Amino acid sequence: MNATFRPGAAVRGTLVPPPDKSLSHRAALLGAISAEPVRVTNFLDAADTRSSLAAVRALGALVEARNDGELMIRGPGLRAATPGVAIDVGNAGTLLRLLPGWLAGQDGGRWTLDGDASIRRRPVDRVARPLAAMGAELRARDDRFTPLEISGRPLRGIEYELPVASAQIKSCVLIAGLLAEGTTTVVEPEPSRDHTERLLARAGAGIVRDGDRVGITCQDELLLDAIHVPGDPSSAAFHAAAAVLVRGSRLVIEGMAANWTRVGFFRILERMGAVLLGELEEREAAAPDAEPLCELDVAHGPLVATRVTADEVPLAIDELPLVALLGCFAEGETVVEGAQELRLKESDRIATVVDGLRGLGADIEATSDGFAVRGSGGLRGGVLDAHGDHRLAMLGAVAGLASRDGVEVAGIEAAAVSYPGFTADLAALTG
Ligand code: S3P
Repeated sequence: MNATFRPGAAVRGTLVPPPDKSLSHRAALLGAISAEPVRVTNFLDAADTRSSLAAVRALGALVEARNDGELMIRGPGLRAATPGVAIDVGNAGTLLRLLPGWLAGQDGGRWTLDGDASIRRRPVDRVARPLAAMGAELRARDDRFTPLEISGRPLRGIEYELPVASAQIKSCVLIAGLLAEGTTTVVEPEPSRDHTERLLARAGAGIVRDGDRVGITCQDELLLDAIHVPGDPSSAAFHAAAAVLVRGSRLVIEGMAANWTRVGFFRILERMGAVLLGELEEREAAAPDAEPLCELDVAHGPLVATRVTADEVPLAIDELPLVALLGCFAEGETVVEGAQELRLKESDRIATVVDGLRGLGADIEATSDGFAVRGSGGLRGGVLDAHGDHRLAMLGAVAGLASRDGVEVAGIEAAAVSYPGFTADLAALTG
């Protein structure tokens, strides 16, 4: 489906962003692992998180959903997932990478994971390798891709140095650590989103952070009570970028996750010159077992170029396409480096962002580990292909608002993977 986004209208009003996708996946999974029923409020109803609910149902969880985003999950617990099930993860990379952590330690069980065409291009060896080192048996197509077959075995704790800063790999190994003999330790090259650690701490798991190391010990059971999912910063980022780019805009964002490991994009936005008021969580004051919320006030401001370095990348990984767009409007050259992981997302986001924005008139080039954009004061417009990637579809829409001639997005329906109400929210804010 194609949709055209025309320039001009300022972004004004209040946005309550949709519930966070990362936390909704974790709520479904850890809710199913919990020994007691878990009440989840503000669960995201989108294609990706429906895949997670379908997966935990297939594995033995009862899930009662109400229309207002409230769920009751009564799962099979830590060690009794229904064996012999084929799981379709759809488009959800997070489900694909986290679920094996739970299944790998259930001795005697066998499962198969597969997904859509995009999932079939995304590597699973990154989780298969540490799980095999812990004692599980896994088989992947070409040792790297789905279908992934998992045979659960008794696990032993390992110390695992992450080859890349990835919250998905970290979470997978930590969840497997719940079932592994002894202590399992993950060492991070750079901090990445820590929702799994906070939830596991809330559930009483023996989880300890010491600098770049996170350790977890074997548990008899996990006990979560209630989970409230905050608004998604990665979804709010699109409207925030539109507000910063279109003159006369003023956007209030309410109920957004303030977790410092998720709001790197808002810090970059501020550094580039956007006017941003509100209380993002500071790293030094990070909550060990809670997810703080914030209210932000965002307005247009003249932008200057910036350099996003490798340590910042995991904190803004899903918002980096927007940094490229902002760079088109900033004075100077904006560079993103250390972001080769972008090639492994729902699309190769270095290629799709660079080709997509260049097609709209941007002066942008790909580098081996990111991209460089020279600000030219504006963007002409044209057609942008979403390549089935939700964040590309939403990028095209925001580019259209900020462009001279408008942007036609081919494949706008992809937005529903994380944000089904995206175009309606954008229309309400610009109407
Ligand atoms: C996610 C982690 C990130 C991110 C993805 C969601 C998560 O992936 O890009 O959209 O929920 O843990 P990596 O951890 O592989 O970088």
